Amino acid sequence: MQKAIHLAYQARGFTKSNPLVGCVIVDQDNKLLSWGHHPYFGGPHAEVVALNSLTEKKEKSLKNATLYCTLEPCLSWEGKKTPSCLEKLLQTPISRIVLANRDPHAQVSGKATTRLEANGKKVEIGVLSKEAAWMNRSYIKWVTTGIPYIRLKFAQSLEGNLHPLPYQRMQLSCPQSQILVHHLRANSDAILIGGNTARIDQPKLNVRLNFYRKSPYFTQPKKIILSKSDFLNLDRTSLTQWLLGLGQQGISSILVEAGPFWQQQFLNKNLFDEVLIFVSPKFIGPGKGIILENPLDFVQEEGNFSAFDHHTWKKSGQDIVFQGISLKGNPCLQELLKT
Ligand SMILES: NC(=O)c1ccc[n+]([C@@H]2O[C@H](COP(=O)([O-])OP(=O)(O)OC[C@H]3O[C@@H](n4cnc5c(N)ncnc54)[C@H](OP(=O)(O)O)[C@@H]3O)[C@@H](O)[C@H]2O)c1
Repeated sequence: MQKAIHLAYQARGFTKSNPLVGCVIVDQDNKLLSWGHHPYFGGPHAEVVALNSLTEKKEKSLKNATLYCTLEPCLSWEGKKTPSCLEKLLQTPISRIVLANRDPHAQVSGKATTRLEANGKKVEIGVLSKEAAWMNRSYIKWVTTGIPYIRLKFAQSLEGNLHPLPYQRMQLSCPQSQILVHHLRANSDAILIGGNTARIDQPKLNVRLNFYRKSPYFTQPKKIILSKSDFLNLDRTSLTQWLLGLGQQGISSILVEAGPFWQQQFLNKNLFDEVLIFVSPKFIGPGKGIILENPLDFVQEEGNFSAFDHHTWKKSGQDIVFQGISLKGNPCLQELLKT
C-alpha cells in the first residue's frame, strides 16, 4: 500500500477534482506483478492502468493475486468519464483486494466493496487509511460537503504586514517560496484574489513551472477576482452559498492569494481548511496585517485562538513557512484520521 500511495502522489497537480489513486498487484508470494496510478483528470484509473500493464505470463498468476488500491474501485453512472473499475475487477480472477479507504463519493461509498464481496472476492479495508485520506483531503472535503477545499496563502513581513501603506506591489517571498507557490497553484482548481490585488499587483495567477506547463495533461487553475459588486452581503451564509455554487461547477479546491481583506473574510468566518503563511526576514514599515475580528469559533482556552488541528513550520530558502490545517469543515476526513 505504501508503494500504491507513492505512485498516487506522482499525479499531484494533474488530477484536479479527481482523487489521487495508486494501485499495486502482487502474486501469492508477494512478488510484484504490476502497478499503476491515475495520471490526470479524465485519464485511466489506477486499477485499469495496473491491469492493462500485466504481461500475458503475469496474467496467469492473477488467480491468487492481491490487488492493493488506495481507494475503493469506482462504479459507472450517467455522465461518468471512465468505465467502471469494479466491472473490470470482477472480470479478473484476483481473489483478494486490499483498500486504504472506501470512496467517500456518495455514488460509490461502500457499494463497490459490497459487490466485490458478493462476487466472492475477499476485501480488506483500512490499510494505511490515514495516509491515503490525508493525501486526498481536498477531494474528501469536496465530495462530502460540496464546498471546495479552501487554502489561504499569504506572505508577511517580520512585523506581520502583508503589504505596505500606502498600497504598493512588494515581493515579500524568496525565490524558493515562489516555486512552492507555483506547486500550490498547480494543486488548486481555482485561485482567488480581490480587486485591489488585481489592480496593484496585476498577478498572472498561472503555473509557470515547465514540469506542469509542458504537459498536455495539465490545465491551468481558474482565476477568480472578487469585487464589491459580487456580493450584496458578505456574511457567512452568503459566502458559503457562493462556495457551494463553485463546488457544483466542479471546483474542488481554491487557493486564496488575496491581500488581507479576503484572507480575513475566510479566517473570521471560519471558512478555511488550510493556512500557509510565508514569513519573510524583512521589516517593511507601516502596513497592514491580518486582524481577527472576533474569532469565537477558534477559542479553545481563554486567550488561545488556536484554529488548527495540525501544524508545521518549515524553512523555505530565507523564509519560514507555517502550515496550519483545520479539520472543522471536513468532518469525513476528521473521522478517517481518528480511526
Ligand atoms: N502579502 C501577500 O501575500 C499579499 C497577497 C496579495 C496581495 N497583497 C497586497 O495586498 C494589497 C491589497 O490588499 P487588499 O486587502 O485590499 O486586497 P484584496 O483582499 O485582494 O481585495 C480587496 C478587494 O476586495 C473587494 N471587496 C471589498 N469589499 C468587498 C465586499 N463587501 N464584497 C465583495 N468584495 C469586496 C474590493 O474589490 P473592488 O475594489 O474591485 O470592488 C477590494 O478592492 C496590495 O498591496 C497587494 O500587493 C499581498
